[in-house]
Amino acid sequence: MAQRSAHFHSGRFAVLRGMGVTPWTLVESTRVPGSGEEMRLLQRGADFSIRLGNIELMNSRAHSSEEQLAALACAKIAGRPSPRCLVAGLGMGYTLRAALDLLGPQARFTIAELVPAVIAWNRGPLAGLSGHALTDARVDLVEGDVADLIASARSTYDAILLDVDDGPEDRPHGATDHLFKEPGLRAAHAALRIGGVFAVWSPGPNTNFAPRLRKVGFAAEEHRVRAATGGGSRHVIWTAVRTS
Ligand SMILES: C[S@@+](CC[C@H](N)C(=O)[O-])C[C@H]1O[C@@H](n2cnc3c(N)ncnc32)[C@H](O)[C@@H]1O
Repeated sequence: MAQRSAHFHSGRFAVLRGMGVTPWTLVESTRVPGSGEEMRLLQRGADFSIRLGNIELMNSRAHSSEEQLAALACAKIAGRPSPRCLVAGLGMGYTLRAALDLLGPQARFTIAELVPAVIAWNRGPLAGLSGHALTDARVDLVEGDVADLIASARSTYDAILLDVDDGPEDRPHGATDHLFKEPGLRAAHAALRIGGVFAVWSPGPNTNFAPRLRKVGFAAEEHRVRAATGGGSRHVIWTAVRTS
């Protein structure tokens, strides 16, 4: 995550300099497995913020694009009787909540989250933000790297929804290369059922990503979305359908 956060400079990942007069208070800090970087949960009134260093990863005030990730993906598999859905990561649970609300009672969800403390926060102070999504009987929680779940799946999922801080930026050694470079995309393609959708959130555009999705066999679309209802930063979501 250290590499991811250092890269971010805009959008959801605003660098925080002298913001506001009411101070945020620290709820808890943790270390990210692997990188060892400090991740903090802060609170200001009813608002929560998850940060890596001075980079904000998530703020409970702006979660429209996280919900649109679920909406755009679920629209592609509407009508499937018992869809299986893989969601990663958990964050504040908005994407998971939206997918739970959009798919029926027969749907099954696996939520993968890398950072154990994020799971604890969603069972504790953040639980209300997602309407206690982790307690929904349709949800199985896996603590670990979503790439491992994708790599071990074959024609398993109707939808894979990825919002793992990093988008598919083109960097020499990005932290999420294993997900967004060609081998990772082939693994996602193989993990989906025919007609299933791979949906990816990104803080910004990437002209290379849709062609890369198409190269491995997806029918890909790019969607421009806003961080908050009616405004805010501009983010990008790709939906990529396995056609054969
Ligand atoms: C920006 S948050 C997700 C926000 C979420 N969509 C929501 O609606 O609140 C990104 C999450 O992905 C997790 N994460 C990062 N890399 C991951 C990986 N490889 N596998 C699983 N989770 C990961 C982070 O710990 C963090 O909780």
